[in-house]
Amino acid sequence: MKVSVIGTGYVGLTTGVCLADLGHTVLCVDNNAEKIAGLKKGISPIFEPGMEELLEKGMKSGRLGFVDDIAGAVKQGEIIFICVNTPSREDGKAELKYVEKVAKEVAANLDGNYRVIVDKSTVPVKTAEKVRETIERYGTEGIKFDVVSNPEFLREGTAIKDTMEPDRIVIGSDSEKATKKMLELYKPLIDRTGAPVRLVSVRSAELIKHGANTFLAMKISFANLIAQVCEEAGADALEVLDAIGLDERIGSRFLTPGIGFGGSCFPKDIAAFNRTLGILGVDSSLVRAVEQINKSAWQRFIHKVEKELWVLDGKVIGVLGLAFKPDTDDIRNAPAFKIIEELREKGSVIRVYDPKAMDRARVEYPDLEFCGDPYAVVKGAEALLVCTEWEEFKTLDLGRVKELMQVPIIFDGRNIFDKNAAEKAGFRYFGIGRA
Ligand code: UDX
Ligand code: UDX
Repeated sequence: MKVSVIGTGYVGLTTGVCLADLGHTVLCVDNNAEKIAGLKKGISPIFEPGMEELLEKGMKSGRLGFVDDIAGAVKQGEIIFICVNTPSREDGKAELKYVEKVAKEVAANLDGNYRVIVDKSTVPVKTAEKVRETIERYGTEGIKFDVVSNPEFLREGTAIKDTMEPDRIVIGSDSEKATKKMLELYKPLIDRTGAPVRLVSVRSAELIKHGANTFLAMKISFANLIAQVCEEAGADALEVLDAIGLDERIGSRFLTPGIGFGGSCFPKDIAAFNRTLGILGVDSSLVRAVEQINKSAWQRFIHKVEKELWVLDGKVIGVLGLAFKPDTDDIRNAPAFKIIEELREKGSVIRVYDPKAMDRARVEYPDLEFCGDPYAVVKGAEALLVCTEWEEFKTLDLGRVKELMQVPIIFDGRNIFDKNAAEKAGFRYFGIGRA
């Protein structure tokens, strides 16, 4: 089938390369000309495992192309995906101006041929109706289209795998014709993986995405709550959560405590869902508690550092990990920066290292001290903070780290080190939820 994808961020680009790999002809468009120029040369604007390989494969096959002109993309695609960003506004509401802008651009370029317009971006319930109204309002007479919601559930760092081996495919459509087209689109993936398909109403599909993300965030906040109570009660959160997670009804995934969830999705989607509940007059206290516990996760971490180091002014602190999670270069809403910003405000000198996120961090925080490797970060430092659980940090030579540091203290925000091993190596060690 002929597919167009508008927006080549994490979601759009992954959607584009995967659909091309499944045998469709895909044209991706973005209003960022620099991104498109790079993509045309096979350069991915993001770090994502497996992305460059699929990009090259798709382009070589002739089924994957990139343009910066939306008119051409709209004309080509019988299915048109909207994958532009939907960031949080100050008041927590989802900013839908890019979605509206794209809907207008789609409207201006539709002809008499039937099209399926797909909302892939995470949006509040009833957004698809607004997209339909916008296209009707700004399109010419006689255009034929349906708007469907087809949320993605991909995680950064495993985006390609999550897309190619989905737990489920959700198609929210109020039109039989559109549903048929979407099933045809996903047929190669369904045949290959046997992934369950849920055909639901448009509004249900929109709520499935917000509901799933809120539930996952709730699990993480629950884990952080247990970690906090363990610290105060003298118990071990890893022991407690391990045994809790063994109950099949609960499950152990997304039950890892730390310095809180970040990224471009959870914080934004939970804030937006909170607003939706408010607008619909539904009690939102559960969602607000999830946000509050998440905030206290990184705040308590800072407090621990301050309590142990006493005066922060002038102290050199080494930070390992900037990305909001491992295997990505994304620093959007990364807890590491909430911690770094506050420590800097208190006068600390911060040195950082991250395997993939330093280029992005340099753009936003040019005056941080960026180091070439973890050992350079700890040289002469009075504390080491672990903010992202990259694999390469787990195998650091703790003996060497201790030799290099001025004062051997580790604040392990992701529990990557074994407490006993760290203490045996001569460190004062503070993990999360470890009494
Ligand atoms: C996405 C979804 O859009 C969001 O709703 C979801 O919850 C998380 O992921 P993401 O792919 O991470 O966002 O966004 P981003 O990396 O910012 O990419 C959006 C792309 O759309 C950018 O490349 C941007 O240049 C492009 N864009 C934006 C357009 O092409 N046109 C516009 O009008 C606005
Ligand atoms: C999330 C959803 O998982 C995905 O389904 C949706 O499509 C987009 O949003 P993503 O933000 O890429 O994906 O990453 P995810 O792996 O969910 O992690 C989000 C944050 O939660 C990270 O900061 C991570 O460190 C944190 N986290 C995750 C925990 O603190 N504990 C956990 O147990 C799991």
